[in-house]
Amino acid sequence: MNIRKISLSLLLLSTTFSFAQTNPEIENKIDEILPQLTIKEKVALCHAQSKFSSPGVSRLGIPEIWMADGPHGVRAEINWDNWGYAGWTNDAITAFPALTCLAATFDPDLAYQYGSSIGEEARYREKDVLLGPGVNIYRTPLNGRNFEYMGEDPCLASTMVVPYIKGVQKNGVASCVKHYVLNNQELWRGHINVEVSDRALHEIYLPAFRAAVMKAGVWSIMGAYNQYHGQFCCHNDTLLNKILKEDWGFDGVVITDWGGAHDTKQAALYGLDIEMGSWTNGLTSSVDLAYDNYYLATPFYDMIIEGEVDESVLDEKVRRILRLIFRTAMNLDKPWGSLNTEAHQKTAYDVATNGIVLLKNDSIFPIARDTDMKIAVIGENATRSVILGGGSSDLKAQYEISPLVGIKNCYTNAAITYAMGYSSGSSAYGCVNEAKEDQNKLLEVALETAKNADVVLFVGGLNKNNHQDCEGADRTSYNLPFNQDSIIYKIAQVNPNIGVVLVSGNAVATPWIDNVRGVMQAWYCGNEAGHAIADVVAGVVNPSGKLPFSFPIKLEDNAAHSFGKMSYPGDSINVEYKEGIFVGYRWFDTQKIKPAFAFGYGLSYTQFEISDVAVNRKEYLREDSIEISCTLSNTGAVDGAEVVQVYVGKSKSKVERALKELKGFKKVFVPAGQQQNVKIKVPISDLKYYDEDLADWKLEDGKYVVYVGNSSDNISEKLSIKVD
Ligand code: BGC
Repeated sequence: MNIRKISLSLLLLSTTFSFAQTNPEIENKIDEILPQLTIKEKVALCHAQSKFSSPGVSRLGIPEIWMADGPHGVRAEINWDNWGYAGWTNDAITAFPALTCLAATFDPDLAYQYGSSIGEEARYREKDVLLGPGVNIYRTPLNGRNFEYMGEDPCLASTMVVPYIKGVQKNGVASCVKHYVLNNQELWRGHINVEVSDRALHEIYLPAFRAAVMKAGVWSIMGAYNQYHGQFCCHNDTLLNKILKEDWGFDGVVITDWGGAHDTKQAALYGLDIEMGSWTNGLTSSVDLAYDNYYLATPFYDMIIEGEVDESVLDEKVRRILRLIFRTAMNLDKPWGSLNTEAHQKTAYDVATNGIVLLKNDSIFPIARDTDMKIAVIGENATRSVILGGGSSDLKAQYEISPLVGIKNCYTNAAITYAMGYSSGSSAYGCVNEAKEDQNKLLEVALETAKNADVVLFVGGLNKNNHQDCEGADRTSYNLPFNQDSIIYKIAQVNPNIGVVLVSGNAVATPWIDNVRGVMQAWYCGNEAGHAIADVVAGVVNPSGKLPFSFPIKLEDNAAHSFGKMSYPGDSINVEYKEGIFVGYRWFDTQKIKPAFAFGYGLSYTQFEISDVAVNRKEYLREDSIEISCTLSNTGAVDGAEVVQVYVGKSKSKVERALKELKGFKKVFVPAGQQQNVKIKVPISDLKYYDEDLADWKLEDGKYVVYVGNSSDNISEKLSIKVD
């Protein structure tokens, strides 16, 4: 039953609550409601009633909760009882760039813009919970879901996730930050038990979730599928009761990942609040309401009635769920939403243009917009939809500008030719094409097209099919699929004036790097992708994106892979995070391994210089902040933005330390020939490490080194400071 329309009783209960954290007015209302609910009604609130909703209490006018994926746009309507699309005609949305692209902007203001825009769309679509953003840390380039996350660094992910959530929630729509936690591979995600040191857990994998809770005040969180300490993360005593609810004071709702609950008693006692997606056979099952069979449904009810679980356990969950309903569905203060507005499309375009990373440029880019050259565009990703596919982040966009269309729109004087070059042999949803193209023929045509052009733009990369950038499975190789490496070599032989545009959410091997003149990491850029890519290629926008994760030269250079199979992917029962805290650049730096492209790296069409680096003092007390200042000069001929990055390291430490860790950054726009003073603050408390014996954060006294640069491998200045 849809009880959204029961307006009279709804009005009685709804009030004009603010979006702030725990609100006394809401708490008083909940105190009034709780004793009026029967045990059955309370249990019903704790589990799904359909694929993407959980029930309210119609008798009291308490509305249902409606949820939607997340995190790059509001997903199309799904059937009541199965994963099929409902086929509505009014649910097409703005597709925003994937979160890797957002992270690559290094711009928290854009993250806020992204969050508010997607929140407005969710509100318009009458959703109460948006299932995103994802902040699982990028541990291996093989993880099929990296494109949905914010990179390998906890400081970057924490800084970007907070404004995203605030932007969403100001619309009276809850963010559901996911997947808490350690869901860093898709292979065996449903059961693998992650063994990780307490330090790595607290220093690397938890901080972005902690920031979501403690800095953004996120209203809901999604448990991960995998296990930790031999307990499923969706009902995990340590993660949910101890860390999330007790230590961080989370007052929102823990929602399972779809099908992530496995046991009634554990779900009851170990921190879960709402169970979703346990199975999908609401219609095909023999019982009237299959959802009654969920772990947190009838079996939970029985346990309470039989006294096996105390009713107070149920009440605690219901209090949280009612709080969520008051913050969202019953929030009369929330603004009206909007869909597919120009402002949203501009946000999508701005995030895309600011996130695209120029990796190599041997004077091939920018290619002037008014050129009359012959431009050959080659590669399947120039025309393929990459908004579709990828699993739950699959979107139905109102429109999608492909790279080829974007290039054609941009270069009106040039002669544009196109050849596919290779075929992945499958559609966006993995169906194998009926008429499988002859790969040799495709290559032959591409070489001919390349030969006859002045410049070649190869638009390749991964796509969102199984074993690529896609939920449910990991990649099987670090190299580009579909023979693209060999095709790039061959094209470069017939036309060395070639630039590569990589459309992917993951690092890939670039063995052909010396044979091409330029490379651009163009992510999955949403429905404005083609315009954004073309404008960066043409220099209408000067690239300013920075890599949110390292590109190893070869897979074994990556920390997780260098420790062998037990470290990735594990033995299907366990996986051991043997690299500990040395994830991403922390590993490359400390082991002195040169990556192909480093974390924080990205070129521009202008040149920047960082000078006059200084700190406000040489000695600090623990409650102080370091104020780092520098001058950023744009010494080139084009306006542009640069990201000043501050890393801090501790040489003589009682514990193992990475050489340096990102502690702050600022993206600054500087017109050509001008300079800007930049100030970045790093609280001394951010220099703490997690002491495993103490089971708490600890600050070490002594000397620290502050590194200031524009990439983790391009440091302009090192300064020593002392903490007392
Ligand atoms: C995914 C979640 C998603 C949920 C609902 C799961 O398979 O892991 O990220 O939100 O499905 O679609």
